[in-house]
Amino acid sequence: MLQLIYVSTARNGLTVDLDDILARSRRNNRRDGITGLLHAKGRRFLQALEGDPAKVEAAYARIATDPRHFALVVLSRRSVEAREFGDWAMAADDGDGGAVAQVAQLVEHAAPSVRGTFEGFAGMRAA
Ligand SMILES: Cc1cc2nc3c(=O)[nH]c(=O)nc-3n(C[C@H](O)[C@H](O)[C@H](O)COP(=O)(O)O)c2cc1C
Repeated sequence: MLQLIYVSTARNGLTVDLDDILARSRRNNRRDGITGLLHAKGRRFLQALEGDPAKVEAAYARIATDPRHFALVVLSRRSVEAREFGDWAMAADDGDGGAVAQVAQLVEHAAPSVRGTFEGFAGMRAA
């Protein structure tokens, strides 16, 4: 299965409606067998998508043309034996409260470099 991780920047900062993005994402992802984690903090998004390679690439192609964000940069695109971000149709983390603990738990089984990326991103807010 394919794991794709990217970062992006929200076009309108705080006016992006995360709930709306998540509702549609979860519906599509459930249909396509895609799981992952969306971490949103300030204007930055960090997302991991996992699933069948063709489905993940198709979802990413849709996401990449979404005008609500821009400047997408793929941080890693690797084949994984099993899902590293759990079974969530799209877990969300809006950077509030227990973000660091939540992210740490979700990336527990991820490769060390992937884990470091997410923990660093989540932890920056607390710093
Ligand atoms: C930061 C961000 C993350 C997104 N993540 C997903 C996702 O995981 N799955 C998905 O289907 N759409 C995701 N979307 C929404 C897609 O860009 C697109 O609007 C949606 O897939 C279109 O679905 P529809 O054809 O059912 O309207 C995301 C959008 C943004 C801005």
